[in-house]
Amino acid sequence: MTTSKEKIERIIRPEVRGLSAYHVPDAGGLIKLDAMENPYGWPNWLVEEWLERLRQVSLNRYPDASANALRTRMRSAMGVPDQAAVILGNGSDELIQMIIQAVAGPGQVIMAAEPTFVMYRQIAVVTGLDYAAVPLQADYSLDGDVIARALDEHRPAVVFLAYPNNPTGNLFDPDVIRAVLARAPGLVVVDEAYAPFTDESFMGKVTAYDNLLVLRTVSKMGFAGLRLGLLAGAPDWLNEIEKTRLPYNISSLNQLTGEIALAHTEVFEEQAATIRQDRAVVLAGLQALPGLTVYPSAANFILFRVPAGQAGVVHAGLKENGVLIKNLDGSAPALRDCLRVTVGRPQENAAFLAALADLL
Ligand SMILES: Cc1ncc(COP(=O)(O)O)c(C=O)c1O
Repeated sequence: MTTSKEKIERIIRPEVRGLSAYHVPDAGGLIKLDAMENPYGWPNWLVEEWLERLRQVSLNRYPDASANALRTRMRSAMGVPDQAAVILGNGSDELIQMIIQAVAGPGQVIMAAEPTFVMYRQIAVVTGLDYAAVPLQADYSLDGDVIARALDEHRPAVVFLAYPNNPTGNLFDPDVIRAVLARAPGLVVVDEAYAPFTDESFMGKVTAYDNLLVLRTVSKMGFAGLRLGLLAGAPDWLNEIEKTRLPYNISSLNQLTGEIALAHTEVFEEQAATIRQDRAVVLAGLQALPGLTVYPSAANFILFRVPAGQAGVVHAGLKENGVLIKNLDGSAPALRDCLRVTVGRPQENAAFLAALADLL
């Protein structure tokens, strides 16, 4: 009799068995500064409007398959040029998956500059594609010559560049990204998940290149619980990627909630402006502590390096003091001794800095 272990080894691909599932730690009772969420909730008047309108949703019916009202709101909230097409996803994760599924085939390569958002690699491997990582420099910048050589060697179907990058927080040189766009044999996806915290963007240029796609999410803006992302690009590309979308991927509840929230972008823009100001406070607080290397950030989080071998102790010590951040030590050689903290409310940031100061 074959055991299920033997069956798993026979049936599940070795690349998949070699992966770890995306792990989300329990944050119960802790100050939650690990996941780049907006710490501010919705104002009461907006919650009331939302609850009132939820009554009108007909849950016995399928959602609007093309999510037209939400699509219009999202285009305007995210400054998508008129000539560009868009696809909405259940989070930008789902859009990354759709792009990769659309190009999947023997010998196809997905490329990203590492360290970066782990799902590019994870989805490429799960989909059975080859994955090529281009190493960032010691300061996490993207070197034009290094990526040019990698493009020529691997001929990737898709290059993902997070702008700003996660978990490093920096913006790559836009001239290097333009050079990648000119040299890449396939698509270049500029992933602007952290757009609310920077003035830099490729969205306005999305149809100026024949191989540029721009990815956005509402997660960091203030609705991580909603799961809603947007992909913008030239209609010819998006018509193909659209074929990988599952019908009704944006639920009626999501469509209505997104529509209401994005009718009030001023609320969330104000929150993002506060987070940007507080980012400077946290950065200065970290820089004032002994023994840390602190990396500048254009996002709503900050990466910092603690003295060698201390990341686990510092991470656990913060947790004992009620603060959860992300330990990146061990996830990649370039992130040795590194931790990442999300910018929270002022009192949360102060509690984090005070607990960290005690531990160093
Ligand atoms: C660069 C980047 N892209 C995409 C995502 C996924 O966001 P979403 O919540 O829209 O799936 C993240 C989440 O951390 C991210 O850091």
